[in-house]
Amino acid sequence: MHARRGATVSKNHTVAIDQTGETFTVAPNVYVLDAALESDISYPRYCKTGVCGSCKSILVVGDIEHDSHTQVALSDDERNLGRFLACRARPKTDCTVAFIPRDVVPRFNNKIREVDCRVIAVERATHDVSIIRMEAETKRPFIFTAGQYASVALGDLPARDFSMASRPGERWLEFHIRGQQGSDIATYLKNDLQIGAKARIKGPSGTAYFREYHGTDILAVAGGTGIAPIKSIVDMALTAGVRQPIEVYFGVRAERDVYLADHFSSLATKYSNLKFTLVLSDEKKVKKGRRTGFVSDALDADLETGRNVRAYVAGPQAMVEATFKVLDRAGVRRKNCFADYFEMRRAAASSRL
Ligand code: FES
Repeated sequence: MHARRGATVSKNHTVAIDQTGETFTVAPNVYVLDAALESDISYPRYCKTGVCGSCKSILVVGDIEHDSHTQVALSDDERNLGRFLACRARPKTDCTVAFIPRDVVPRFNNKIREVDCRVIAVERATHDVSIIRMEAETKRPFIFTAGQYASVALGDLPARDFSMASRPGERWLEFHIRGQQGSDIATYLKNDLQIGAKARIKGPSGTAYFREYHGTDILAVAGGTGIAPIKSIVDMALTAGVRQPIEVYFGVRAERDVYLADHFSSLATKYSNLKFTLVLSDEKKVKKGRRTGFVSDALDADLETGRNVRAYVAGPQAMVEATFKVLDRAGVRRKNCFADYFEMRRAAASSRL
C-alpha cells in the first residue's frame, strides 16, 4: 500500500466488508468511503478529508492508492500494518476491508435510509431550544443505535446533523434543535414549525454509540443540546437493565438554558446506579444540588485517576476538548472515549460551557 497523490486508478473494483459481508463497486478514482456511502453503507466517518481518523480501516486483501492525510488520522506505523483511511483510499484491485473494531459488537452498520417524517409534538424546552418529536411515514422503523445522529431536513431548510434523543425502538424520533438568534432555524422554529410539518431524515450515522455489552462504569458528559444523544444512551442503558454506575454531567450556561433536569432527576430517584450532576457556567448562585463552573472542571474535581469507565461526550467543541483532557489526565484511554465530531463542528463558535 503506497501513497501516490494524484495517481489514477482506471477500472471499477469490488470492495467487500469483512464484518458485514456487504459488497460495493468503486469506480475509477473514487474513494472507498464515497463509494460505500453511495451504496447506502453506513461506513464510519466524519471529516472525509483524512484529518480525523474516523474511517480508519484494515486492508484484509487487495491493494489501494492512498492520498495525503494527517498523522493523527493515520500514523506511518499504522500504514505499515495495513491500516488505511477509507476517505483517502482508492482500490487498485478488488479488496476486502474491515472496519477497525471499536466494540465487541459492531453497531455502526445500521443501514442508512432516507425517511419522510411528520412532526407529532413540539415542546419549547428553553428560550432557544425546541424538542421536536416526529414519526416516520413508513411502517418500517428507523433503526439506529443510541448515541447516533441523522441528517434532518426541516421544511425547506437545508439538512443538518442532529442526534436522536429518543431511545431506539420508541414510536417517535426526538431531536433537540437550537435556534441561535437570527438564524434560519430560529425563524423556522418560531414561524413555521407546527404539528404535521414535514421533515426528511437520512441516517443513522456516528460512532459515539452506546456500547451496551461493556460492563464498565458509564460516564456521560454533555454541553447544551449535546444532552440529546446522552439522553438516548442513558435511557437505553437503563431500559437494557444496565447495573453498573452511570454518571451524567450536564453543563449549560445559565438557568434559562436548563432543560431535562427533571427527566434525569426522576430517573436518578428511580435507579440507584444513576447520578446526575447539573453544572451552570455563568451563574454565581444556583439552586441546591446544582454546581457552578465549567462542566469539565466539575468532572475534573470528581473523577478519580485510573477509574475504568467508558465515556460518552457530546456538545460544543471547547467543552468536548476540555473534557477529553480531563479524561486523559485521569488515565481514561482514548479508545474508551466516544464523541461525534459534528457536534464539535456545529457548535464551534460557541464558547465553553
Ligand atoms: S473521515 Fe476523517 S479521516 Fe476519513
